Amino acid sequence: MNKLLIAFCFLPLAYAADVTGHWVATQTFPDGQTRETSLWLKTAGDALTGYMVQPNQDAAAISNGKINGNDVSFTIVRDNFGEERKTEYTGTFANDGLTLHVPAFNGRMRDMAFKHISSDAPGPTPSPKPRISLPPAADVPSNGLAKTPPMGWNSWNKFNRRVSDPIVREIADAMVKNGMKDAGYIYVNIDDTWEAGRDAQGNILTNEKFPDMKALAEYVHSKGLKIGIYSSPGPKTCANYEGSFQHEEQDAKTYAAWNIDFLKYDWCSASQVYDYHSMQAVYAKMGRALLDSGRPILFSLCQYGVVKGPQWGAKVGGNSWRTTGDISDRWESMSRIGFDQQLDLAPYAGPGHWNDPDMLEVGNGGMTTTEYRTHMSLWSLLAAPLLAGNDLRSVAPEILEILLNKEVIAIDQDPLGKQATRVSKDGDVEVWARPLKDGSYAIGLFNRGSNSAKVTARWSDAGFQGSAKVRDLWKHEDLGVVAEAFTSDVPSHGVTLIKVQRQRR
Ligand code: GLA
Repeated sequence: MNKLLIAFCFLPLAYAADVTGHWVATQTFPDGQTRETSLWLKTAGDALTGYMVQPNQDAAAISNGKINGNDVSFTIVRDNFGEERKTEYTGTFANDGLTLHVPAFNGRMRDMAFKHISSDAPGPTPSPKPRISLPPAADVPSNGLAKTPPMGWNSWNKFNRRVSDPIVREIADAMVKNGMKDAGYIYVNIDDTWEAGRDAQGNILTNEKFPDMKALAEYVHSKGLKIGIYSSPGPKTCANYEGSFQHEEQDAKTYAAWNIDFLKYDWCSASQVYDYHSMQAVYAKMGRALLDSGRPILFSLCQYGVVKGPQWGAKVGGNSWRTTGDISDRWESMSRIGFDQQLDLAPYAGPGHWNDPDMLEVGNGGMTTTEYRTHMSLWSLLAAPLLAGNDLRSVAPEILEILLNKEVIAIDQDPLGKQATRVSKDGDVEVWARPLKDGSYAIGLFNRGSNSAKVTARWSDAGFQGSAKVRDLWKHEDLGVVAEAFTSDVPSHGVTLIKVQRQRR
């Protein structure tokens, strides 16, 4: 035997750990809420089979499962509102634990630590639970609110699960003092985590962070502001608090009794109980209930733009509807949502009903001032709800300047209510334009690239010919009369936002 053959004979067989059994990862949130993800695995040689059960989801079978030494990898294919969503997982088995690298919603990865619960081999993947299918609902008449996109503040982006009655009062005070109220930011909206369970009659209860919702509403109203609240058509909200499932009318009446002015209604666990094809009817139920509550309550749909939401949002009495998943305070998230995921949605927006690319992150610290100016400009061109999402009790002057720019807000609030469209794109530079009520146009010259660039807006792309008077809305400067096209040096991730008034010949 030659040496090579001898070495080959003594090579150990490829090792594959046996990870057969039930594994559980528990996520604990700062408010004490927990969420469990289960993995049921079976190892046979280097093949891995089984299924995964995630919060608010049906069990999903593992495909392409492999185990190589202590490294596992597998794919999960889920139905995401009619679209196939494939997720690749990798992980490592060590010290009787399994660490999975899981893609988080914002495109980043996070690790989930699974503990071994038992060595029982999994049975077949459990079948999905039956879902409720609702018949199509009658259209809900308009409530007459939101003739221009709603403006205000929402607790989620900054305070997340920590929002409380004192914070809401302090934010309301701040909005009066720092000019936000005078600039038009009127709604003070409490997002998820205010809910407790229900009383014996099924009335929704507030938790200890909100001892008296009616008194809080009275306080916010005494400041000349309005107050908003949050719920889900499912049994649980996204943060796992009490939802409105089977209590829609009762909850709408409670909100009216508390003098609430705004409801954000977030799909979340509704997928567990309803066939998602019934989504329109599910939203119509609450739209109707709000209308019948006897109080004008702005209806803000949060269903991430799936199942053609923007096409029927107004028909269920919606004043706005989210068009995407959640924003995060990063350029990649904001620019993907604002530029790439709003194309083709302009026809659905108009007075009373608006596309909602999610709340503002301006001032939360994850983007530069230049990027926040782009965020504010783009949202205003998109006629988006302007719901600030930062801590308004202490705002840096350059951030306040962005949120309070009256000329930019006027674009968002233009009474014609025509959402901008992208009128040209050349690599990283894009031009978006919208016509305004007074016959002028708002035009944004954007540079998404990482170096500064010259961006040109041609009047013909915006929809008119000839010469036009140009005003820079961030510099607050008239730039004179310009023929045919306007070119600007735009910094990386920046914008030049102009209002142009065409000259009559
Ligand atoms: C979802 C929504 C967010 C926020 C959270 C609250 O993720 O899209 O805007 O309301 O739920 O749990």
